[in-house]
Amino acid sequence: MTTIAARPLGQGGLNGAIDAPGDKSISHRSLMFGALAVGRTEVSGLLEGEDVRATAGAMRALGATIERRAEGRWSIDGVGVGGLAEPSGVLDMGNSGTGARLLMGLVAGHDITATFTGDASLSKRPMQRVIEPLSRMGAVFQSREGGRLPLTVTGPETAMPIDYVSPVASAQVKSAVLLAGLNAPGVTTVREPKPSRDHTENMLRQFGAEVESREEDGLFVAKVTGQPELRPQTIEVPGDPSSAAFATVAALILPGSDVTIRNVGLNPLRAGLFEVLRAMGGSIEVLGERVQGGEPVGDLRVRGSDLKGVAAPPANAASMIDEYPILCVAAALAEGRTEMRGIEELRVKESDRIAVMVQGLRAAGVEVEEHEDGMTVHGGAGKCPAGGCSIDASHDHRIAMSFLVLGLAAEAAIEVTGAETIATSYPAFTGHFRGLGADIAEI
Ligand code: S3P
Repeated sequence: MTTIAARPLGQGGLNGAIDAPGDKSISHRSLMFGALAVGRTEVSGLLEGEDVRATAGAMRALGATIERRAEGRWSIDGVGVGGLAEPSGVLDMGNSGTGARLLMGLVAGHDITATFTGDASLSKRPMQRVIEPLSRMGAVFQSREGGRLPLTVTGPETAMPIDYVSPVASAQVKSAVLLAGLNAPGVTTVREPKPSRDHTENMLRQFGAEVESREEDGLFVAKVTGQPELRPQTIEVPGDPSSAAFATVAALILPGSDVTIRNVGLNPLRAGLFEVLRAMGGSIEVLGERVQGGEPVGDLRVRGSDLKGVAAPPANAASMIDEYPILCVAAALAEGRTEMRGIEELRVKESDRIAVMVQGLRAAGVEVEEHEDGMTVHGGAGKCPAGGCSIDASHDHRIAMSFLVLGLAAEAAIEVTGAETIATSYPAFTGHFRGLGADIAEI
C-alpha cells in the first residue's frame, strides 16, 4: 500500500504549466467503439491509467486487436458490430464502473457469455441499474445478491430494442443500453431526468451510427438505430476536465499561484465545476478555445483567488458529478458556506463520497454538515485548516487527490494511505504537482 504526503506550500503558490491527462470517459469509449468498427482506429492522447488499461484488456479478450504504439498512441483493429467473441477468461474491470457497465451493455447485445469481476470498491457498487434494462433487452444475468459483481451475463441471440426511462441521470446507464441497442434490430431509446455526459452519442455519431438526442416532455432522450457498420476513426483524446480540476482548485486556493493547464475538455456536460468556481470568485481564464475530436477544448489559466461560498446548483450536478470532492476543498478555503445538494449519486461512486469527504474534512479541521443528499462546508475564509491527519483513500482516486490538494493549503501535512488508487485515472498526478512546486511525495 502506498502512502503519499502533501506538505503545506508556504509563500508563492504553484507556478507553471501542465498538460491535462487524457479524458477517461473518451479513452474508454475510443477502445470500445474502435473495437466495433470495421478496420483500424488510431487514437492519440489515450489516458494510460489502470481503468482504461482494464478496458483495453477486456476488448482484447472480446476479440479486438489492440496495440500500444507509443505513449498515448494506440491502434485498434475492430471486429464490427455483432462480431465480438466470447472471452475465455473472466473480465477483470479493476476499479472501473464505466468499464464494467458499458461492457455489460456491449456483451448484452451479443450472443455470448462473459463474467465480470472487479476490485473491492467495484464489487460493492450497484449493477442493478444496468441489469434491469439489459434484461428487458433479452440478456440473462447471474450476480451476487443485490446485483453486485462478480456477475455473469449472457446476451440473447437477437437483442430486443427497448424504450427505457431511466430513474437516474447516468451516462453509464444510458451508454450501457445504447451499446446493447447498437446490435439490436431497430431503434433503442433512453430517457433521462437530467442530461448526462454525451460522449457516447457524439462518438457513435462520428463512427457513423445514427444517433439522435433531444429534449422531449421534460426528459432528455437519446436514440440509436441498431446494426450500423461503424467506420474506423482517428481520435485525438482531449484532456480530462475531471483531472484538470485538481490543479485548478489547488491554484485557486494557494495565494500567488499562476498555473496553466493545457488542453482541457470543456464539453458543457462536463465543465460544471469551472462555472461554480467562477461564481465563487475564482480567476479561471480560457485561452485558445478550439474544437478537437468534436469536443470543445481550451487551456485554463488559473490564479490564486479569494473564494466565496455558493450554493452549487443541483440542476447542474451531472455536469460536475466527479468534481464534488475537490469542490469541497475549494469550499474549505472559501469565505462562508458552500452548499452541495441533490448529489445522492455520490454515495454509490468509487466510495460513498459524501460520507468519506465529511469524515476526512472533519479530521482535517474543516467544519462540514452531512445531508442525505449532499453536504455543506463552512469555509475558513482563507485561513488554513489544521490538517495534520491521515486519510484512507477508500479505493477512491478522487478522494486521494482531493485530500492531497487540501494538504498543500493546510497548517500541517496531510497523508493519504492507499494512494496507489490515483493510478486509475491520473498516473502523472504527483509528477505534475511537483513540477508546479508542490511538496507531494511518497513516504
Ligand atoms: C462516466 C459517467 C459518470 C462518472 C464516471 C464516468 C462515464 O458516472 O461518474 O466517472 O464515462 O460515462 P454515472 O454516469 O454513473 O453518473
